[in-house]
Amino acid sequence: LAPPRLAGRRVLVSAGPTFEDIDPVRFIGNRSSGKMGFAVAAAARRLGAEVTLVAGPVALDTPAGVRRVDVRRAAQMREAVLAALPDHDVYIGAAAVADYAPAETLPQKLKKAGESLQITLVRTADILADVAAHAARPRLVVGFAAETQDLEAYARDKLHRKGLDLIAANDVSRAGHGFEGDDNALSVFWREGRRDIAHGPKTAVARELMDLVADRLEAEA
Ligand code: PMT
Repeated sequence: LAPPRLAGRRVLVSAGPTFEDIDPVRFIGNRSSGKMGFAVAAAARRLGAEVTLVAGPVALDTPAGVRRVDVRRAAQMREAVLAALPDHDVYIGAAAVADYAPAETLPQKLKKAGESLQITLVRTADILADVAAHAARPRLVVGFAAETQDLEAYARDKLHRKGLDLIAANDVSRAGHGFEGDDNALSVFWREGRRDIAHGPKTAVARELMDLVADRLEAEA
C-alpha cells in the first residue's frame, strides 16, 4: 500500500475571521465561519500531513488529529502563524483577516454622544505576504482570494504581488459560494496554470485543493 500523499509533510492553515475590538463589547468582524479553512486542515490531515490550524473566533470542532491555536485579532493571528512557521512545507491562508483595525481599543465601553461617530482604522500587516517573504518560507505558499468581480485578474494580481505559489479564488458575490455556507467552488491559479474545482461541499472542494497542493509539491521536488 502506498503511503498517503502528504505523509511526512507539515501543513499550516489559517481559518476563520478576525475580530478587531473597538471597546470591551464591540468589534469589527466579518462573515467567515471558518468552514473552508477547517475543511482544508481536515483534508490535509487525511492525506497524512501533520497539520497546525490557526483559527480565528469560530464555533467549529477541531478536525481529528489537528493541532489548533485559537486567536482573535489579526495581529494575534500573525504572531501565531509566524511562531508556528519554521519547518512547515505548506502554508494555506484561508482566513478572512481584517485589512484595517481600530487605531486603539478603548478600555471602557464607548458612550453614546452626538449624531455621528468616527473611528480611525489603521492597516493591519499582511500575514500571507509576510509568510511568503519570511526566512522560514514554506516550499508552497497558498493564498485565498475572496472576489466579487474579475476573479482571475484580481487573483493573479495577488499571486504576483504577495509572492505566492498558488491562489484559490472564490466568487463571493454568488449565492452558495464563499462565506458562511457549507458549499463553495474555487478557481486555483499558479504562474503557468489554472484548475477549476467544481461547486460542492467545502469538504470535497478542500480535498481537491489538497490533491492539487500535493501535485504542486511533487512538481517542485
Ligand atoms: O470561513 P468560511 O465561512 O468557510 O468562508 C471561506 C472564505 C470565503 C473566508 C475563504 O474561502 C476565503 O476566501 N478566504 C480568504 C478571505 C480573504 O480575506 O480574502 P482576501 O482576498 O481579502 O485576502 C487575500 C489573502 O490574503 C487571503 O489568503 C488572506 O488570508 C490573506 N490576508 C489578507 C489580509 C491580511 N491582513 N493578511 C492576510 O494574510
